[in-house]
Amino acid sequence: MKTIKLLLFVCTSFLVSCTSRTYEDISEQEVSTSPTYSANIEAVIKTNCTSCHSVGGQFPALTTYAQVKDATQNGNLICRIDQTQACGSVMPRSGAMPRQTIDMIILWQKEGYKN
Ligand code: HEC
Repeated sequence: MKTIKLLLFVCTSFLVSCTSRTYEDISEQEVSTSPTYSANIEAVIKTNCTSCHSVGGQFPALTTYAQVKDATQNGNLICRIDQTQACGSVMPRSGAMPRQTIDMIILWQKEGYKN
C-alpha cells in the first residue's frame, strides 16, 4: 500500500511539473531581450524548422547550436525568415513567424550568438 501511495505521489508530481510550463513561459521565451540559444532560439527552431531541417532532411540541418549559428552567420537564414530581400521562399514554408520572434533571432545574431 505504501508503495502505491509513493508511486501515486511520484506520478502526480511528475504530471504537475510537466503541466506547469505555462503559455506565459513560452511567450516570455519568445520576447527575450537578451536571447540565448539554449533558453530561446533552440525552442523556436525546434517548433518551426526541424520537422524539415534535421540531419538527413532539408539542407541546412538546424538541430545544434553550431548548425543554427552557421546558417545564420554564413547562410541566408535571417533573409529567409525575414523576407526583407529576395532570397527564396519564406521559412517556415507555412508562413512567416511572428515579428517578435524574427526580431529575437536578429537580436541573437547582433549580440554574437549567445549559447
Ligand atoms: C515544411 C518544410 C520546411 C520547414 C518547416 C522549414 N523549411 Fe527551410 N527549407 C525547406 C525546403 C524544402 C528548402 C529548400 C528549397 C528552398 O530553398 O526554398 C528550405 C530551405 C531553407 C534555407 C535555404 C538554404 C540555402 O542554402 O539556400 C534556409 C536558410 C531555411 N530553409 C531555413 C529555415 C528555417 C530557419 C526554418 C524555420 C523558421 C525553416 N527553414 C522551416 C523546407 C522547410
